[in-house]
Formats: sequence, structure tokens, C-alpha cells
Amino acid sequence: MYDGGKIVAGIIIGLIFLTFPIWYTHGTAPPRPEVKLPEKTKECVEPRAYMKTKHMQLIDLWRDSVVRVGNRSYLAFNGKKYDMSLQNTCISADCHAKKSEFCDRCHNYTGVVPYCWDCHIEPEEKPQAEEKH
Ligand code: HEC
Ligand code: HEC
Repeated sequence: MYDGGKIVAGIIIGLIFLTFPIWYTHGTAPPRPEVKLPEKTKECVEPRAYMKTKHMQLIDLWRDSVVRVGNRSYLAFNGKKYDMSLQNTCISADCHAKKSEFCDRCHNYTGVVPYCWDCHIEPEEKPQAEEKH
């Protein structure tokens, strides 16, 4: 009835399958996207950790404030005031001038496709030499 050998073999094969993702990838996660931070500006409108997890909510708040309330001025955590604008603030020349190297890299990696650019204008990016990898 009990076939010890087969049970042990089954357990071993099962363990090999279960742990496959770990040893196949040597325990490492897939390579993360390399996002380029702005060169000129060192601080965003809120601290980095906040922007990483909450930028979508913040931009939505900005939109509601501008479109529904008519207030375009945002008082940031560092006491500075910013124009609540995708084009003139977030993706302006001084900040994330290259959407393709920042927003897009992370969104492509995470499979996020914001529809904002159906209406909002993406800044023109100057063509440059191919990047070496
Ligand atoms: C159907 C067109 C349309 C889409 C899609 C759209 N917007 Fe807008 N958005 C507008 C219009 C029109 C205004 C008002 C422009 C103004 O008064 O400066 C605006 C204003 C804004 C503003 C404030 C002004 C500025 O210059 O940025 C923000 C922020 C904003 N939208 C964010 C978003 C985000 C985030 C998305 C995607 C999740 C989005 N919008 C999608 C049409 C659109
Ligand atoms: C570090 C990664 C990362 C970077 C960089 C990034 N995003 Fe995102 N973004 C995300 C993720 C992840 C989501 C989806 C979150 C969710 O669905 O809850 C998202 C969602 C959004 C959304 C909401 C989309 C929707 O349909 O509601 C907007 C708007 C957005 N991002 C704008 C931007 C802009 C503009 C930039 C560049 C200035 C940017 N993001 C850079 C990771 C990133």
C-alpha cells in the first residue's frame, strides 16, 4: 500500500518545482528600470518616498484643484510655491524634462498606461545619440 520510495521521490520532485523560481533566478529579482532623476533640480514638490508611492494621487489632487476649484498654487513641503501643472512644473525643462527616461521607464516596467497624454502635451525631447548599455 504505502510505497515509501515513491512518496519520497514525489516530495523531492515537488520541492524542486516549488523552489524553481528561487534557484533559477539565483534569488535575485528581475532588473529594475533605471529612471533618470533631474540634473538641475534636487527636490520634488514632496519628499521622494512620498512621490514614489503617491504621485498619482497628488497629480489628481492638482487636477481637481485647478479644474474644479481654480486654485493653481501648491504650497510644497519645503515652503516653496509651485504652479500645479503637469507641463509647466512636473515635466518642465528644469525637472523631469525627459518623460521617456523617467515616467515612461517606470510605467512601462509596471505596465501602467496613464491616459493623461491623450489631452496633455508631452514636452518635445531633443533627439540624442543612442545610449550605450
Ligand atoms: C479629456 C482631456 C484630458 C485628459 C484625458 C486629462 N486631462 Fe488634465 N486637464 C484637461 C484640461 C482641459 C485641463 C485644464 C487646463 C488648464 O486650465 O490649464 C486640465 C488640467 C489638468 C491639470 C492642471 C493644469 C496643468 O497644466 O497641468 C492637471 C495637474 C491635470 N489636468 C492632470 C491630469 C492627469 C493626471 C490626467 C491623467 C490621469 C489628465 N489630466 C487627463 C484635460 C484633460
Ligand atoms: C518609480 C516608478 C514611477 C515613476 C518614476 C513614475 N511613475 Fe507614475 N505610476 C507608477 C505606478 C506604479 C503607477 C500605478 C499605481 C496604481 O495603479 O496604483 C503610476 C501611476 C501614475 C498615474 C495614474 C494613472 C492613472 O491612470 O490613474 C499618473 C497620472 C502618473 N503615474 C504620472 C506620472 C508622471 C507624470 C511621472 C513622471 C513625472 C511618473 N508618473 C513617474 C510608477 C511611477
